[in-house]
Amino acid sequence: MCGIVGYVGSQPALDVVIDGLSRLEYRGYDSAGTAVSADGKLTVTKRAGKLANLREALAGADHSDTGRSGIGHTRWATHGPPNDRNAHPHTDCTGAVAVVHNGIIENFAALRLELEGRGHELSSDTDTEAVAHLLEEEVAKGASLADAMRRVCLRLEGAFTLVAVYSGEPDLVVGARRNSPLVVGVGAGENFLASDVAAFIAHTRDAIELGQDQVVELRRSGVTVTGFDGKPADVKEYHVDWDVSAAEKGGHDYFMLKEIAEQPRAVAETLLGRIGADGRLSLDEMRLTDDELRDIDKIIIVACGTAYHAGLIAKYAIEHWTQLPCEVELASEFRYRDPILTRSTLVIAISQSGETMDTLMAVRHAREQRASVLGICNVNGSTIPRECDGVLYTHAGPEIAVASTKAFLTQLIAVYLIALYLAQVRGTKWGDEVFAMIQLLGTMPQKVEQVLETVEPVRDLARSLAGERCVLFLGRHVGFPVALEGALKLKELAYMHAEGFAAGELKHGPIALIEQDLPVVVIVPSRARPVLHDKIVSNIQEIRARGARTIVIAEEGDEAVAPYADTLIRVPAVPTLLQPLVATVPLQVFACELATARGHDVDQPRNLAKSVTVE
Ligand code: F6R
Repeated sequence: MCGIVGYVGSQPALDVVIDGLSRLEYRGYDSAGTAVSADGKLTVTKRAGKLANLREALAGADHSDTGRSGIGHTRWATHGPPNDRNAHPHTDCTGAVAVVHNGIIENFAALRLELEGRGHELSSDTDTEAVAHLLEEEVAKGASLADAMRRVCLRLEGAFTLVAVYSGEPDLVVGARRNSPLVVGVGAGENFLASDVAAFIAHTRDAIELGQDQVVELRRSGVTVTGFDGKPADVKEYHVDWDVSAAEKGGHDYFMLKEIAEQPRAVAETLLGRIGADGRLSLDEMRLTDDELRDIDKIIIVACGTAYHAGLIAKYAIEHWTQLPCEVELASEFRYRDPILTRSTLVIAISQSGETMDTLMAVRHAREQRASVLGICNVNGSTIPRECDGVLYTHAGPEIAVASTKAFLTQLIAVYLIALYLAQVRGTKWGDEVFAMIQLLGTMPQKVEQVLETVEPVRDLARSLAGERCVLFLGRHVGFPVALEGALKLKELAYMHAEGFAAGELKHGPIALIEQDLPVVVIVPSRARPVLHDKIVSNIQEIRARGARTIVIAEEGDEAVAPYADTLIRVPAVPTLLQPLVATVPLQVFACELATARGHDVDQPRNLAKSVTVE
């Protein structure tokens, strides 16, 4: 939440910063602003609304394009409504210091009172502005901006990334981080700071991970990193393995459409290199030893939103293949219910961004209780994998649309791989059974491709339903989390009432919602599980008898459902546990198309942000 960019180099800073912000807008789009340092003064421009409003303001304003250092911010509002006044950067009383911030400064009210008591005039409702005034006091005492930042950070409580410029040190940008993301981009004669490498990938693929409680000084000539205590810090350099084209729309109208289309490749990439020379599954990067995995007696999965739905599906695979009990918990609830964790509990944290604060806090709680924690993450070097005992990276590439699509499918691949690996090391499945399932997983990119090739009727259907008020989704077994995911996508993109139910639960209350012509999407399990399949066929008849318009997703060759489907969407026949990989795709397309038909920007749905770095 909130995107931050900092730049020092030889290019016009404003151009670099605005370009960086355009790649970070997925993190928040309530307002945007920049501060550029030139000729001994700062020029600050900020506007409520999307980056386009800021661009417009800059186009008409008399701003300096000579500045070679600057900062920028795109906001997801926490403290204070999204207006010009609360937009970042925030400045001190003299206009000499400007600061941008991601996170929440929990003691800001006390700091604000203290500052007002000393005569400072604060002009916004934000927690951030206090930092600008605290920095002002420190530089007035003669501190350098970096020293001022270190001193101020020691006074702050909460989670924050801060990036500041000071007119007295025009060729310097200073950043700080605690519990909130910030990466350094290392160029030749220029350096970058950003919440995410996407902001500077057009300029450099060499990056530095910043650790907890560190301050970074960015100059043309180089980068210096210290702890808040001023001691030099060890840093980890890495090379980003994707390029700028991955962070662009590639001919699609929306990132979401591009990311849906990329799913076959993302699934294939996540499966790549998982079979060793001996034909056995090998997850080298995971860091947990086979002995550690043999000692596990319970698994708890923690995640939020779409990643939580991946966790719900994982439970079926893990319990079926490994015989280990598996609980799935919303990360935001996990640590508040005193979960029972022991040294033999494996906690699996699933997070695309690797920065979701609720999930990060769940990881920390689990580690404090001495459980082993394994992360499933998409963003290399992000906070969650760094704090876990082990990690399995999904290789979906950058996911920029706010609604998660390809990350979800690759999270499913990752949990299937982990479940099969556990089955292999614990001996709950024979080697040839594991191998056969891996072979089947290997066919999934092609099956997902097949769904994408035949999905046009889903688009027509979605457009025809654009005027509806509500859509329900039903599923059984792994189809139930798929129903939840279909409903979540529709809610977040089309702003429509949508709910997912376990089909068997319907008659315990929700069936009262069914009225004439209400669209109900039903995910039909594979015929390989006749008990499940037959039950859902009965459920479809029950809702149809009460007037529902049935939209049925069923595997090819399943003729039993055809008489009860007002619309039949076919997906390839795959084993029951793997069905979410194909059944989710039409639901993503459905939500995307329906939202577009209602005139919404599917990449930036209202009130949301891609990476939720506050609790
Ligand atoms: C929905 C969506 C969110 C995320 C959730 C967790 O389309 O994208 O529900 O899945 O905010 O985010 P990560 O996976 O980054 O922890």
